[in-house]
Amino acid sequence: MNLSYIINELGEDREQYFNAVSPPIMQASNFAFNTIDELSKAFADEMGTYLYSRGQNPTVDILRKKLAALDGAEDCLVFNNGAAATFAAVMANVKSGDHIVSVKDPYVWTKKAFDNIFSRFGVSTTYIEGKDLQEWQSATQANTVLYYLESPNSWEYGLQPLQEIADFAKTKNIITIIDNTYCTPIYQNVIEMGIDIAMQTATKYIGGHSDTLGGVLCGSHAMMRKIFESEYLTIGSGIQPFNAWAFIRGLRTLPARLERINHTTKTMVEFLSNHPKIEKIIFPFHPSFPQYELAKKQMKEAFGLVTIILKDKKRESIIRFCESLKAFLIAVSWGGHESLVIPRCAGIRKENYNPDSEKHRQIRLYF
Ligand SMILES: Cc1ncc(COP(=O)(O)O)c(C=O)c1O
Repeated sequence: MNLSYIINELGEDREQYFNAVSPPIMQASNFAFNTIDELSKAFADEMGTYLYSRGQNPTVDILRKKLAALDGAEDCLVFNNGAAATFAAVMANVKSGDHIVSVKDPYVWTKKAFDNIFSRFGVSTTYIEGKDLQEWQSATQANTVLYYLESPNSWEYGLQPLQEIADFAKTKNIITIIDNTYCTPIYQNVIEMGIDIAMQTATKYIGGHSDTLGGVLCGSHAMMRKIFESEYLTIGSGIQPFNAWAFIRGLRTLPARLERINHTTKTMVEFLSNHPKIEKIIFPFHPSFPQYELAKKQMKEAFGLVTIILKDKKRESIIRFCESLKAFLIAVSWGGHESLVIPRCAGIRKENYNPDSEKHRQIRLYF
């Protein structure tokens, strides 16, 4: 489907709301029916009706249609944030006694969900680098039901060969979920590669202005219905109409913003690569990146996040560097209009900082 059509037209029925170019925020918790028969039908199919906004809501629906199309997926659900989306996707597909194989360093709160919550209900997780199919095959057990991917992965941008993993998973009836936030569906179409559930936190690029949280799951109608009818309605972590409207607005400028971030990133990567005070740059489209070929094969672009390591190993020097940057804010998150810097050592106790650890010295920049 044409990108411009998706972001400007799809799902919008302007005649229903005075031909307003921007859709209304349907700030309603519930919807009335003319007859009891209509109400009964709504009870029977809450996903196909407006009954109560913990389920469906017209503003949220416009966003769902656009996001599903962007991913080339049959359907989509939008949550109050990315963590809630991930949690629901995993929860819907595991039961006590099941086993998950996950990339070693998924987003921190995803790992906490595996380690601190799912483990309490008898769901175990094996973590692997996951850079080649064989690792996934070796880690797979008779009770493995789910592969959790994140490609590129945080900080070091490790990749997984998505098509190969998806193909293998299908032969074993294992569900694949990926956190595709780094690339967005615009620059990495994971559904096309056979992944079952594409997750992204809309908080980053879809919103784009560092003012709204949201999380997206895309996949088949059947999978989205399964999640809707259990976790989505039960946990009640669906997005609110105003936030959905903010993401519809964010989508209007998404391609333009990504292009600009992409351009800035490339300029900065070139500058940083040649800088005498920088020891190493970690970026998927840099020729020094160990999985450069795979990155070029499965990603249309790499952009936004770049990790650098200074030659100067001292913690104080890293901190001085970060605090001296003029146009960068020191903050978590990314995908917004502002440039950001965050050193890995900010999350490491001062006494535990090891200047010989490359990891401890990493500084992540977002352009
Ligand atoms: C890669 C990645 N996945 C998921 C999340 C969670 O998204 P949210 O903050 O919207 O819950 C984040 C948040 O920073 C993230 O960076």
